[in-house]
Amino acid sequence: MSYEPTPVQKAFHQACLQYPIVLFMGATGAGKTTALIWQVIDDCLMVKNNRGMLARMTYEDLRDTVLEDLLIELETARIPYTHYKRYRFIHFPSTNSVLYLSGLGDTVKTLRRTKGRNLGFIAIDQLEDIPREVFTFQLTRLRLPHVPPERRHLFATANPVPEDHWIYEMFVGDPERGIEPLEGAKVIYTTLDDNPHLPPEFRKLLLQTLTTEEIDRYVKGEWGFVPVGQRAFPMFDKRVHVGQIEFDPRYALIIGMDFGYRHPAAVWLQVVGEPDDPVGRRVHVLDEFLGTDLLLDDFIEIVRDRTKAYFPKAEILFYCGDPYAATARSDRGEAIDVHLRRRYQIALRMKRMPLENSVQNIAGLLRLNKLILSPKCRILIKAFEGGYRRDEQGEIVKDGYFDHLVDALRYALDVFAPFGVLHPIVPSLNRAFRLKRLLGAFRPL
Ligand SMILES: Nc1ncnc2c1ncn2[C@@H]1O[C@H](COP(=O)(O)OP(=O)(O)O)[C@@H](O)[C@H]1O
Ligand SMILES: [Mg+2]
Repeated sequence: MSYEPTPVQKAFHQACLQYPIVLFMGATGAGKTTALIWQVIDDCLMVKNNRGMLARMTYEDLRDTVLEDLLIELETARIPYTHYKRYRFIHFPSTNSVLYLSGLGDTVKTLRRTKGRNLGFIAIDQLEDIPREVFTFQLTRLRLPHVPPERRHLFATANPVPEDHWIYEMFVGDPERGIEPLEGAKVIYTTLDDNPHLPPEFRKLLLQTLTTEEIDRYVKGEWGFVPVGQRAFPMFDKRVHVGQIEFDPRYALIIGMDFGYRHPAAVWLQVVGEPDDPVGRRVHVLDEFLGTDLLLDDFIEIVRDRTKAYFPKAEILFYCGDPYAATARSDRGEAIDVHLRRRYQIALRMKRMPLENSVQNIAGLLRLNKLILSPKCRILIKAFEGGYRRDEQGEIVKDGYFDHLVDALRYALDVFAPFGVLHPIVPSLNRAFRLKRLLGAFRPL
């Protein structure tokens, strides 16, 4: 045979014989599709009368990419086959195995032809394009009886996806919500460095044109996101704005919150620096939390628990939130700020600020190197690196993911750093007295 798998490709093929579900995830050009194709060929040639499926989201995508590569591999390896183009399958006469070529997102009419069939294996290229329901339905079709168990499997490739993509939840799980990864599923990660067969210019070209975040995603193959439009914070530089910072008990702990069911978000930060030293004053963002599908009370309780657990020495807390909270109804029918005061004795601090000003405040702090993120703020860092962005018209994109954490940060900074000016809060001495004087309306809890 003409195919010499790389070590990672070998690991993928081995995993395919050990686990019923295998995901080969990583950088573009790493050799995922090639490995998928050879696993398909191997399954068709090692099992007599096998019935398998090779799929992408649409048949047209499959035909123009994977199928073309498959036919080339079959030709160069001189493997006998017949391609029934019109009926969309390939027959292997040596074993009488059949490979169906499908688009999983195709209309019901074209799907009906193959829908009820029992299959020995399912191979999906670019799983990230496939809806979760379509994927789980496919799993039920792996029941061709005469196929040995180690060959009755689903294997797929994917480019790195955002952390709120169903693939991430299903294959990695979400310990914070008690979600375990799918049983029997294995992920093999690959990066561009794993493929020695690429022309050297390819890698160089990628490294030159991509941002650091894009390199993480496309070259290193880490979980990431699809960058569209322009970065909202092009001045953000991981080397400058991310650093090992610790909670400082001399200063107040500020919690910024963005309410909402789908992705409520919270950030924990401090404005550090003595009151008579405006130059040394900085914002330290110590931690972040992005919830998923949480009712308001559950979210607040998580925030309070995390505060107690991670900041046990924090004596003075300020909670900041969306000014809209003063009108928005909580699940209990009262305004959210009223609800927080009644039920949790939390006085929510809010300041109305146009979105653009608020974003500019953050940009200003970044330019002056006055905003430092802890490496714990993984999602916020990704947001700053390019997840939080502007569309072609220059408008901030509400992407439904990164924007919630940036909002949580904005609400805190709108209160404590309006117009980019960092006000001193909670000096080390005479805390109560100076607090009252300096903050005026802000009463400590
Ligand atoms: N084991 C291998 N031997 C030779 N060439 C390979 C091998 N694996 C991948 N390639 C080549 O590397 C290039 C990228 O591979 P591909 O499978 O399309 O990557 P991906 O699907 O991860 O983007 C293709 O030109 C492919 O032919
Ligand atoms: Mg590919």
